[in-house]
Amino acid sequence: MIKRVLTVGLITLGSSFLLVSSAQDGPTPEQQAQQAMETRQSVFRLFRYNLGTISGMARGTVEFDAAIAERNARRIAAMAPMIPELFQAMDTREFDLDTEALPVIWEQFDLFQERAQALVDGANEFADIAAGGDRMETLGAIRAFGANCGNCHETFRVDD
Ligand code: HEC
Repeated sequence: MIKRVLTVGLITLGSSFLLVSSAQDGPTPEQQAQQAMETRQSVFRLFRYNLGTISGMARGTVEFDAAIAERNARRIAAMAPMIPELFQAMDTREFDLDTEALPVIWEQFDLFQERAQALVDGANEFADIAAGGDRMETLGAIRAFGANCGNCHETFRVDD
């Protein structure tokens, strides 16, 4: 009995030490900023991947498939609200990061949000057209869809 109480006591003590030390060893603000940047960049890379297939259809390097075009556009529409969400979750302006995000994002956040919403709408409009299955109409709508990416980069991303 005594042994058991002692064991339970030791385990409790051990886990509270763990809790304390993990609180102290948590990510530094610099690490949090780095992680926030990596997360948002991952979203953009997924955009590039999904849009890339669609633009490949326009260039003729990817076989035309209206269902895939629609699916990829819906994916982008579903992920696009993550842009303002992630930039709002952490303002990384004061950190020294390898980022192309311009400080104006946090200074004109309403406009930034509008640009992200325009992408949601543009992606859904394109997906609706692709859902019709018409090849020429679908290919013809790609440029307008993709313009939503450039419209935001123009103001909010380093021009490279
Ligand atoms: C609302 C604004 C906004 C929209 C809309 C937007 N982007 Fe971006 N994009 C950014 C910003 C800001 C960065 C810089 C992120 C960073 O470096 O922290 C970026 C970075 C990127 C990157 C580089 C990611 C990396 O690896 O560093 C790619 C690729 C990209 N965007 C593709 C796209 C595509 C494709 C679309 C459209 C489907 C799109 N973006 C729409 C704002 C936007």
